[in-house]
Amino acid sequence: MNYIKAFAPATVANVACGFDIFGFALDEPGDTVELRKREEPGVVIKDIIGDDGRLPREPEKNAVGVVIIKYLEHIGSTQGIEITLHKNMPLGSGMGSSSASSVVGVFAINELMGRPLTQEQLLPFAMEGERIACGAAHADNVGPSLLGGFVVIRSYAPLDVFKIKVPDELYCTLVHPDIEVNTKDARYILRNEVSLKNTISQMGNVAGLIAGLMQEDYNLVSRSMVDVIIEPVRSILIPEFDEVKQAALDSGALGCSISGAGPSMFALSKGRQNAERVALAMCEAFGKVGITTKSYVSQINQSGPKILSIGH
Ligand code: HSE
Repeated sequence: MNYIKAFAPATVANVACGFDIFGFALDEPGDTVELRKREEPGVVIKDIIGDDGRLPREPEKNAVGVVIIKYLEHIGSTQGIEITLHKNMPLGSGMGSSSASSVVGVFAINELMGRPLTQEQLLPFAMEGERIACGAAHADNVGPSLLGGFVVIRSYAPLDVFKIKVPDELYCTLVHPDIEVNTKDARYILRNEVSLKNTISQMGNVAGLIAGLMQEDYNLVSRSMVDVIIEPVRSILIPEFDEVKQAALDSGALGCSISGAGPSMFALSKGRQNAERVALAMCEAFGKVGITTKSYVSQINQSGPKILSIGH
């Protein structure tokens, strides 16, 4: 095999109460990468499509480039690689845009090299891509994008990641307002100290959300989708946040919060029909102040990245 084209999905990180520890994958959108082996050693970026020229073209400064360079170093290979990246979602969207790129890069190179590493072993490489893209090697986007499903990061040092089962009828509505929030900035504004009172509330909700999902108790999921630590600070970066959240809840969502670092917002619902009604209500609420939106409705994607084509 000399050529591979692969896809990795967008993700919703934090999932209300689980800052940096919860995330799940969506069916769409996602990023696509094409890798081709070169005769000469070295990693080069041939093209990036869909980023309006904003991402660095030097492989050492680009998340996908770094991920592939570190992976090849790790397996002791001098194989030359030419990268073409297709960005299918906006940068700074809160949909795990940089993570999908890092994941698709490491997934594709591992396949192209004959799959010497397991999917789980690829996670630290994808996290290095996050470090390049936003200054912090958090795993709540790359984890679910790489492994599929609803992922919990129990610990970062040592890295301890696991997946939990979620109800089949659980649907996510993801709404992206046409504004940009830089993840680095959205992390910078967070307070470092958290009160004991808020810690207790957040721990209760974290436990409740996991139990609710695993026991298919939608009411418990709904009661637990509360973030008393991060959302109150970050929501100021999203115009109409309160109105959009209320519109989602009024139209039957189990809960609604910021997707990752924002500005995208997500809601969970029981059943596709409800999730679609919620999408309309959220878009309408943004639309009232002239903000254009794009919305996605998806089940929790259980499979993560996939090969689209291979060639010689
Ligand atoms: N957990 C990260 C954050 C996700 O909220 O900063 C960024 O997409």
